[in-house]
Amino acid sequence: MRIHTYRSPQGTAPAVPGVPRLPSPHGWFCVGIARDFKPGTVATVPFMDGEIVVYRTRRGTLRATRPHCPHLGAHLGAGGYVAGELLVCPFHRFGFGPDGVCETTPYSKPPRAR
Ligand code: FES
Repeated sequence: MRIHTYRSPQGTAPAVPGVPRLPSPHGWFCVGIARDFKPGTVATVPFMDGEIVVYRTRRGTLRATRPHCPHLGAHLGAGGYVAGELLVCPFHRFGFGPDGVCETTPYSKPPRAR
């Protein structure tokens, strides 16, 4: 019988003997109960070693995203708000659709921020 020893890509030892340490988590993780996120709400939720921002659009689409704006990094959960189907950044008010694409700005044509 041949015994294989798992080595993570980083070469670190398993945190728990016999249980391999994965380079990143895979699978589904509960960050809240869907009914707790009302249309138009934005919430910052702890996740792993950081946070994610969860929001529900006015039509009811529930989304989770990285907390920092792709434009200049403002925290979307600290003053960000839902306008229709968009999550609007509190800093320069760029509006991002549920697919992450910047769809509006208050100033000009949307940039390619995503
Ligand atoms: S940092 Fe978010 S729009 Fe500029």
